[in-house]
Amino acid sequence: MTHHIDTSLVHIGSGAFDPITQTAAVSLPAVRTSTVRFKNLEVLEAAQTQRAQGLRPVMYGISGLETHRALEEVFNTLEGGNYCMLSPSGLASIHLLFMSTLQTGDHALVSDGVYGPMRTFDQDLLKGLGIEVSYFSPNHDDLESLIRPNTKLIYVESPSSLLFEMLDLPALSRVAKHHNIPLAIDNTWGSSHIYKPLALGADISLVAGTKYIAGHSDLLMGALITNRDDLATRIHRTQYAIGNSVSADDVWLALRGVRTMAVRMPHHAQSALSVCAFLATHPKVVRIYHPAWPEDPGYGLWQRDCSGSNGMLSVEFNCTAEQLKPVVNALTLFGIGFSWGGFESLVQWVNPSALMPHQTWQGQDHGVLRLHIGLESIDDLIADLKQALTFISK
Ligand SMILES: Cc1ncc(COP(=O)(O)O)c(C=O)c1O
Repeated sequence: MTHHIDTSLVHIGSGAFDPITQTAAVSLPAVRTSTVRFKNLEVLEAAQTQRAQGLRPVMYGISGLETHRALEEVFNTLEGGNYCMLSPSGLASIHLLFMSTLQTGDHALVSDGVYGPMRTFDQDLLKGLGIEVSYFSPNHDDLESLIRPNTKLIYVESPSSLLFEMLDLPALSRVAKHHNIPLAIDNTWGSSHIYKPLALGADISLVAGTKYIAGHSDLLMGALITNRDDLATRIHRTQYAIGNSVSADDVWLALRGVRTMAVRMPHHAQSALSVCAFLATHPKVVRIYHPAWPEDPGYGLWQRDCSGSNGMLSVEFNCTAEQLKPVVNALTLFGIGFSWGGFESLVQWVNPSALMPHQTWQGQDHGVLRLHIGLESIDDLIADLKQALTFISK
């Protein structure tokens, strides 16, 4: 029987009953291990055979035991995948993805609105390995014409970082499939809950579990989810080759986080819309970037492809970034910080240089603030924004 996603979030990965006591803890314990014991050599040999066939038997603690399997099951169920590989951070998942799919001499096409540190990874590591990355704007450029004979990966983020630009994934997927190039997407915004890239044609979905999956700003984690056997085998082998592993305690915290996701996400989303409605009335606000806001150009795609939204939005002001600094300092309920997806509200003063690579950015010298709307009372958050916005400097 298939259940609603919100039911699955509560029940998947609950763990098996103990064969002797016939009971099970409601909350699966964190099974910590560096290595595993095999009952006899035959069991070990069977595991080795499975591994040689490209399967993922338990051989060593690196990919974890029951707790890890439970979280993988959660990701697979939510994303409609068959395989999930966990990493110690979202960025580590990005590294794992690129190392699994590309070799020296290969080329990757990456959407220009990707999470910033992807570019550092490109400049500091991929370049030196002889892997070339070129950036494109999926809503402006013709993907087909950018594909080269050595293009081996198309990697996008939708909605994009900072400006939340929705991409037409099915359209990108048609081109990628025509050229037999894997299409991977950073689905951290959707966090496996409100956006289903695999169903929309992507081959790999990447989620920084650090954000809404964890939900409490207390762990770092990443996941790669796919239903393609060939890609799963490559990622799994690479993961073993580089020793990429996640602590059982972090997995346990992430599992605890997902149990309340069905109530957290709509709350973040509703409050974010209330903040958009407030900001839209402010004389200094030029534009709000939030795909669930009806005036956002991505609203149509969001309606078509997403089942909900979250607490992320950016706001462009008719003043410079410098003039917004006193506003950021005046906020009392919004912590100044990166990351997002926890219970608390956050503000990021967006450095203008971070917006320049986004072809969709038309704001020239306008300042932008990125907000994460947390679970605080919406009246308090709006009152805080209202008082802080009086500090826009002249
Ligand atoms: C869209 C997106 N993807 C990936 C990451 C990386 O996640 P982590 O902080 O777990 O490395 C982030 C972090 O901010 C992000 O915003």
